[in-house]
Order: sequence, then structure tokens, then C-alpha cells
Amino acid sequence: MTLLLRFLKWTGMILLLIIAVVVLLVFMRHDRTFEAPYPDISASTDSAVIARGEYLVNGPAHCTGCHTSSANEEAYMRGEEVPMHGGYDFVLPFGHVYSRNITNHPEKGIGRLTDAEIARTLRYGVGSDGRAILDFMPFYLMSDEDLRAVISYLRTVPGDANEPPKTEFNFIGKALMAFVIKPMGPLDTPRPIAVQPDSTAEYGKYLAMSVSNCDGCHTQRDLTTGAYVGERFSGWSGMEGMKGTYFNTPNLTPHPTAGHMAQWDFDTFRNRFRAGVMHPTSPMPWVNFARFSDDDLKAIWAFLQSLPQVDRNPGPIVAEKPA
Ligand code: HEC
Ligand code: HEC
Repeated sequence: MTLLLRFLKWTGMILLLIIAVVVLLVFMRHDRTFEAPYPDISASTDSAVIARGEYLVNGPAHCTGCHTSSANEEAYMRGEEVPMHGGYDFVLPFGHVYSRNITNHPEKGIGRLTDAEIARTLRYGVGSDGRAILDFMPFYLMSDEDLRAVISYLRTVPGDANEPPKTEFNFIGKALMAFVIKPMGPLDTPRPIAVQPDSTAEYGKYLAMSVSNCDGCHTQRDLTTGAYVGERFSGWSGMEGMKGTYFNTPNLTPHPTAGHMAQWDFDTFRNRFRAGVMHPTSPMPWVNFARFSDDDLKAIWAFLQSLPQVDRNPGPIVAEKPA
């Protein structure tokens, strides 16, 4: 008996010690910083470059919907112009992540950052303070030219003094930041210096995967780590929308029965993009995507048609809360 008690006492003490060490490590490491090179990219004042940036930011790269405050969500959904002054509240299992002010305000916005700091955040996922930026913005393979165009346009956006709340992680979030979450870059994949916009499948792949993030929402993901667990473009069952709603994002591969667009032709596809929002709580940035040029839509259509057919039915578009 005394032996058992002694054993329990010791294992209990060892367990407590292990827990204490883990807690200590979490608090020491949750704000760890990372290294990444500063891309040699600087803003231009050329009007054609700024116009390309304006198209990307408000259209295919859809920065606006995420970078306005939650209070502007409904105005954004109605297609009104909203300030990119940050504060959108992303409620995650491990805390609240708030988007930042990306107007050119000298203290509250990106006016305080250099072009190279902004470029490093978008290319490698390392924030200006060296911390890992969560994988909300998969622009890691955006071309040098397009990144420069985006930054050139942001420099022309008048400063707005809004100060978004700071991101708040709970203990699990801090533990993830301490041990699991790392910046996505630098990636080994070769990155284009320039890409020629045209209507080929190759350009469509660039738009779909490096600018518009179609695969990020149309592929099953693990919400804790962000990892892709399903086959690309075969749909995400149970993706969270706004206001506590859930969606099954459709399978965009050309599978004859499981593919959502099996009966569509290019005109159906284009008209769907021109029509904008149909489900008012959908996270898909239809408002921005309504601005896609016809050529860009042709390129994406050609790319989606070229994908391997995946036989997976993610379920009806409007979903129940997953168990
Ligand atoms: C899906 C939502 C989403 C989209 C789309 C998005 N962002 Fe972000 N962005 C965020 C969030 C969330 C953060 C804060 C991330 C963090 O703190 O880990 C952020 C942070 C940033 C930062 C860091 C700012 C700072 O103060 O250090 C910059 C710069 C930025 N975004 C620019 C852009 C640009 C430019 C685009 C479009 C090309 C864009 N974002 C598109 C959600 C988004
Ligand atoms: C932020 C997440 C997100 C992104 C990014 C996204 N989608 Fe979606 N998509 C959804 C959701 C959710 C739905 C279902 C609700 C809806 O139709 O709005 C959907 C629906 C669709 C539909 C079916 C619409 C219908 O009415 O039948 C098509 C087609 C589509 N997406 C194509 C794309 C393409 C192409 C891209 C990239 C240019 C893309 N999506 C990017 C989340 C996303």
C-alpha cells in the first residue's frame, strides 16, 4: 500500500513538472520570430502598374473583403466600396485573428512599412515583426510584377486612422504558435518574375492557385493546421461561412457526375461570376470576383477543365453544422 502511494506521489509530481515545463515553453515561444529574405520589390508610380494593382486588389486577389472591419461586412456584400482599414474578426477555434489596416496611413496602416516588408509578408508569410502570419493570404507564388503592382496601388490608397484590435490567441492558439505554426515560405517552387495575362490554362492555373485562392476553399482542409487533406479542387465539406452558417464548396473538377459544373459551358461559368452573391453568408468573394475580365475567366475555365476528374461529392452547397 505505502509502495503504491509513493508511486502515485512520484508520478503525480513528474506529471505536474512536465505540464509546468510545457506551459512555460508555450509562454516563452508563442511570439517566436522567423527569418526570411526581403524581396527586391519596390512600388512604382507608373499609371499602368497602379491600374494593374487596383484590378488585382479589388478583383482577383480580393484583399478588400478581408481587410475591412466586421462592421462593414454587409456594405461589402452589397458591393459598396469599403475602406481597407482592417479589423475583420476571424473567429477561430484558437482565438480571434484580426486583419490589419492596409491603407497607406503612416502609423496605423502600411505607411509605416517599407515596400520590402510588405513584399516579405505576402511572399513568405513573415510579418514585419518577424512573427509567422497565419495562412490567410496564399500569394506566395505571385509574380514579382504583380506583387509590385499590388504594393504600388496600396501606396495610393489614402490613409485611414482605424486601429484594428490585436490578434488574441487562447492557450491552444499560443501553443500552436509556439510549436506548430510556421511561415509558409520560402517555398522551393520556382516563382515567375512576370506572367503574361492571356486566356490559356497555364495563366488560369496561376490565377486560380496563386492569386484568387480557388483551391484554398475548394479543397478539404484541416482547420487547426490549415493542411490540405483532400484532393485539390474536389470540394470542402463543412466549410464555415459567416454568421454561423456552413457550406459544402463544390467539386470544380470536370468529373461527369461529381463535378459541379459538368453541365456548364463557358457562358454559364461567366454569367455565374457576373451575377455575384447568391448566398448572403457565403465566404466566397463574389463581389470582387464579379470584376474578373472575360479573358481571366476564360483562363480559369480552361484550367479547371484541364484538371484530373475527381469522383467526390462534397454534398449540397448549403450544409449543416458538421458533427
Ligand atoms: C482571406 C482573408 C485575407 C485576404 C484575401 C487578404 N488578407 Fe491580408 N491579412 C489577413 C489577416 C487575417 C491578416 C493578419 C494575419 C496575422 O496577423 O497572422 C492579414 C495581414 C496582412 C498584412 C500585414 C500587415 C501588417 O501590419 O504587418 C498585409 C501587408 C496584408 N495582409 C496585405 C494584403 C493584401 C495586399 C491582400 C490582397 C493581395 C490581402 N492582404 C488579402 C487576411 C486577408
Ligand atoms: C473564401 C472561400 C472561397 C474562394 C476563395 C472561392 N470559393 Fe468558390 N465557393 C465557395 C463557397 C462557400 C461556395 C458555395 C456558396 C456559394 O455559392 O456562394 C462556392 C461556390 C462556387 C461555385 C458554384 C456556384 C453556383 O452558384 O453554382 C463555383 C463555380 C465556384 N465556387 C468557383 C470558384 C472559383 C473559380 C474560385 C476562384 C476564382 C473560387 N470559387 C474561390 C468558397 C470559395
